[in-house]
Amino acid sequence: MALWAGRFSKEIDSTVNDFNSSLPFDCRMYAQDIKGSVAHAQMLAAQGIIPAQDADAIADGLAGILRDIEAGTLAFDAAAEDIHMFIEQELTNRIGDAGKRLHTGRSRNDQVAVDIRLYLQDAVAGIIGQINELLSVLCNRAEEHAETIMSGYTHLQRAQPIAFGHHLMAYAWMLLRDRSRLQDALGRMMAQNPLGSGALAGTTYPIDRHFTSEKLGFEGPSQNSLDGVSDRDFCLEIASALSILMTHLSRFSEEIIAWCSWEFKFIELDDAFATGSSIMPQKKNPDIAELVRGKTGRVNGNLVALLTVMKGLPLAYNKDMQEDKEAIFDSIDTVKLCLSTFTPMLQTMTVLDANMRAAAAKGFINATDCADYLTKKGMPFRDAYKITGQLVALCIAQDKTLESLDLEQYKAKSDLFDADIFDAIRLETCVNTRTSYGGPCPDSVRRQVAEMREAL
Ligand code: ARG
Repeated sequence: MALWAGRFSKEIDSTVNDFNSSLPFDCRMYAQDIKGSVAHAQMLAAQGIIPAQDADAIADGLAGILRDIEAGTLAFDAAAEDIHMFIEQELTNRIGDAGKRLHTGRSRNDQVAVDIRLYLQDAVAGIIGQINELLSVLCNRAEEHAETIMSGYTHLQRAQPIAFGHHLMAYAWMLLRDRSRLQDALGRMMAQNPLGSGALAGTTYPIDRHFTSEKLGFEGPSQNSLDGVSDRDFCLEIASALSILMTHLSRFSEEIIAWCSWEFKFIELDDAFATGSSIMPQKKNPDIAELVRGKTGRVNGNLVALLTVMKGLPLAYNKDMQEDKEAIFDSIDTVKLCLSTFTPMLQTMTVLDANMRAAAAKGFINATDCADYLTKKGMPFRDAYKITGQLVALCIAQDKTLESLDLEQYKAKSDLFDADIFDAIRLETCVNTRTSYGGPCPDSVRRQVAEMREAL
């Protein structure tokens, strides 16, 4: 019989139990559930609500349950509706009446609200650690390629020359913001302890919510019992921050996939981080990057699922909210999985500098620098832009590059051109002289790396 069986005259239908049960997915919160229960029992004893010996028996019994779950000797009973009832029932089986006192002044509604928070606190801290590892790999690779020239793109058209390290650091700054969004969400989540909100309306027992807040690492108790049990903002915030993070990894993956193609061939993935084809012997596929891009879909789907579950719920707890866990857990698991493979893939990839440099030599990416050359000699930029455009058209007609035109051909367009134009449009010059703050020159890349390492 279920713990709530008192007013019922029949056993729950087994299909209803299967439908209703969250145990298959909330069992992963066993340690958090036990931690919350120990704090609650200690508080009850400290307030004289239950005898101190009962609180001790509860703490010992729960410690035994924790040990047995972790040793694999206590299996979760599928008949239990959720992890909260499973542990309480098991405790009562083990210690008798003291176990039945644990739920005094508490509801599963405030219990689950605490458990998810404690679970997410650890899980998100793990993801933050993984982001830090990825950032440190990005810093190393960017430092290594502070002087590697590649074309920067807009509209996926070759645009202006940059250092490859600058391109990598662009992703590092996105990821640093992802980390900060997660830290913010954790801070807000741990500011308010919902335990003691009861089912919805607090309790008549003289509980001490500051005591449990301190024990469980919250800043203090939540201010409103209805809000305490029905708030899932923290799930929405974390799911949203994870979606944004995945969006960044997905954009990065998209580029990695392109760079691996014969059309680009800017990088070569390590054999241990690529896959082959069952039929085409020549293939080396960037499956990891493709899967990261693909899994972004499910993480975004989880966010939409959570928002949709919450949008029509009246106060306070509704069973709909049980749907929060699978979505947020899946986002957590997916992001962890993606980061654990993405980081070593980046760490081990070979950068084909010569191919990047060769691609940058085509596409007239120094055209802006040619116009700037004239502008620095006094010509208004719009006029310089027009003349350079004509030079580019000439190159296209004669199958030449700006570097391979003759000085006479330059002079025919403007007598401001001199032999130093050839140095001005060298890609190395174009990158090295882009010294504006935040720009792509090697010193700027090295400064970004230093600042990022500071932030780590
Ligand atoms: N398994 C439930 C959940 O995940 C726990 C809270 C149930 N509360 C209730 N009154 N049915 O949301």
